[in-house]
Amino acid sequence: MSEVLETSPSRYDTITHVDELIRAIDAQNCTPGWVARPQPLMWPAPRSKFVPVHWRYAEIRPALLAAGRVIGTDLAERRNFVLRNPIEGNDFATTRTLVGAYQSILPGERARSHRHSSHALRVIIESQGSYSVVNGKRHPMETGDIVLTPGNHWHGHGHDGDAQAFWFDCLDLPLVHLLEPMKAEDHPEQWEQNAEQVDHSPMRIEWADTERRLAATDAGEGGDAFFGKTVDVTSALMPTITIKVHHWAAGWQGKAYRRHANAIYVVLRGCGVSAVGDERFSWSFGDVFVAPLGVRVAHAAHDDAVLVALTDEGLMAFCGYDALEACE
Ligand SMILES: [Fe+2]
Repeated sequence: MSEVLETSPSRYDTITHVDELIRAIDAQNCTPGWVARPQPLMWPAPRSKFVPVHWRYAEIRPALLAAGRVIGTDLAERRNFVLRNPIEGNDFATTRTLVGAYQSILPGERARSHRHSSHALRVIIESQGSYSVVNGKRHPMETGDIVLTPGNHWHGHGHDGDAQAFWFDCLDLPLVHLLEPMKAEDHPEQWEQNAEQVDHSPMRIEWADTERRLAATDAGEGGDAFFGKTVDVTSALMPTITIKVHHWAAGWQGKAYRRHANAIYVVLRGCGVSAVGDERFSWSFGDVFVAPLGVRVAHAAHDDAVLVALTDEGLMAFCGYDALEACE
């Protein structure tokens, strides 16, 4: 079947110059695809507007201690410091698709329950006795654990231990802002009552399990020249955040690479150095650093190190955009 549009005489019939045509179609919300633009539509190689950044836990932890003194969870629904990538016009995002934050909670406190479409997780840096209630179930948050709150799951945090607890939050919030499926609401009772304690759950990646899997992973099989010994603990419930844990022995030196994916690294143990673009980050326990898409990256461990890598590589792969290449 074919249909023929009968065209009647129009104002375009008398146009004889391209500039005149461009002005005319602009009134119909059309723009010519052939003109040069201040912001080109395509360019030769992946590059991010986001820059490599390093946050040192040794500098931020005292600020979190101060936050514990000056603001309570009654006023701050989440007592956290958002790691804002320092580029013009950016208010909160850490990478193009992810945002990270250091968060802390005091013994006896509760951070109210809410839910949102954005997927979220917590990498626990220092904690004994804190917990997350996720959809009515109470999950311990102990050092080295990763606790998941997939989109639209109720979640709140509490602490029954004796010392201030610290963790790193990661959400795909910048991606949700881009795609616009935002929905967020507070729990009608502020807190999920009568939560059932669960020690083992798909929402809790326990450090003991991760450590066991790392120990059983051959550096040549579970890792590679770029990322070393690696276990992938990504949850199918939140596919926009790829979660991998790396274990690098003292003296391990990775090969340099470029990747079409954005990465946030959280250091759980040890120290080392990562060359990221023009930067050279000497990282240690609790630090966070960012490797944006497209820059040259090379990691090395000075002593036995464990890092959690939070990336959008799964998202990029789903889109058919992920690529990894060795470089000098
Ligand atoms: Fe949340």
